[in-house]
Amino acid sequence: MTLTSPWNGFLDRIHTAKAHDELATIEHELFGRKAGEMTVALKNLASFSDEERKKKGQELNLIKHTLETAFAERTRSLSSESLKTLASSDTLDPSLDLPEKERGHLHLIHEYIRRSEEVFGRMGFEVAAGPEVETEHYNFNMLNIPESHPARDNQDTFWASSKEKKVLRTHTSPVQIRFMEEHKPPFRMICAGKVYRKDSDATHSPMFHQIEGLMIGEDVSLANMKSVMESAISELIAADTEFRWRTGYFPFVEPGMEMDVRWRGDESKSREGKWLEIVGCGMVHPNVLKNCGIDTKKYQGFAFGFGVERMLMIRHQIPDLRLFYENDLRFLRQF
Ligand code: PHE
Repeated sequence: MTLTSPWNGFLDRIHTAKAHDELATIEHELFGRKAGEMTVALKNLASFSDEERKKKGQELNLIKHTLETAFAERTRSLSSESLKTLASSDTLDPSLDLPEKERGHLHLIHEYIRRSEEVFGRMGFEVAAGPEVETEHYNFNMLNIPESHPARDNQDTFWASSKEKKVLRTHTSPVQIRFMEEHKPPFRMICAGKVYRKDSDATHSPMFHQIEGLMIGEDVSLANMKSVMESAISELIAADTEFRWRTGYFPFVEPGMEMDVRWRGDESKSREGKWLEIVGCGMVHPNVLKNCGIDTKKYQGFAFGFGVERMLMIRHQIPDLRLFYENDLRFLRQF
């Protein structure tokens, strides 16, 4: 149907509208409830005579229908056009570089423990584990630590349950016992994990990590122990690490020794003592071997317990052990 002015103008605008909001504007101009052109024209019919109203009414209804059909068609074609452009513009280009994602990494303590397991693994040590909540039996009794030993003091030990005689293990040495109860010599094992003591300053924390080691065989000597430990520190701290051996007392070894390592770099200037104790060790006490049913006439060996944080402090010249646990990303990202 060909329309007369002004409807023809509206029809043209509908056909050429470029977007949905343009159509909405035209629709409002035509059919708006108060001032829409068509709305007003239909209202005005009332002023005509019956006959004229009938004729004009039919005419207007036809025009209205034509315009509405044009709206519906244009709306549909605008929608399918926008889907088409979306399909061609929104394709995935696999060659584009994606923005780099920030990836986390292991905490330096755990990374270091894995590294130690690798270093000792090459020397033939297998990895074992034990519980952090230990019985008094494994944590003390089986290790030849008498009732009266100061390590049992409330000062050092966190009691988890005094009724059941359970403690947060104060060292990883109870794993020696658990291992010896289940394995026949000869063997070499290490065990790394958390230990707990009531202690807190720049070189002590109520929770810290140890790496325990145990090697039992027919002719395992103190010289073997020194050589294993010296090669471990040269790999795990630095090849030129300065250290000194001292005698030390632990009820579960005889003789007992301790190794101190010299602070490096700036730390060596600011520290008064210059040395930091990093490990206790010695030849496993015959009482301990006997407790585990090992023939002391045939077998002997050594044990050691490294302080993980302290080795890391020397390696990276970290002045305060508490920095490990504060979770400050500026600190952690350096490793
Ligand atoms: N368990 C001792 C400590 O925590 C270290 C140690 C382990 C000493 C093994 C000797 C042998 O201090």
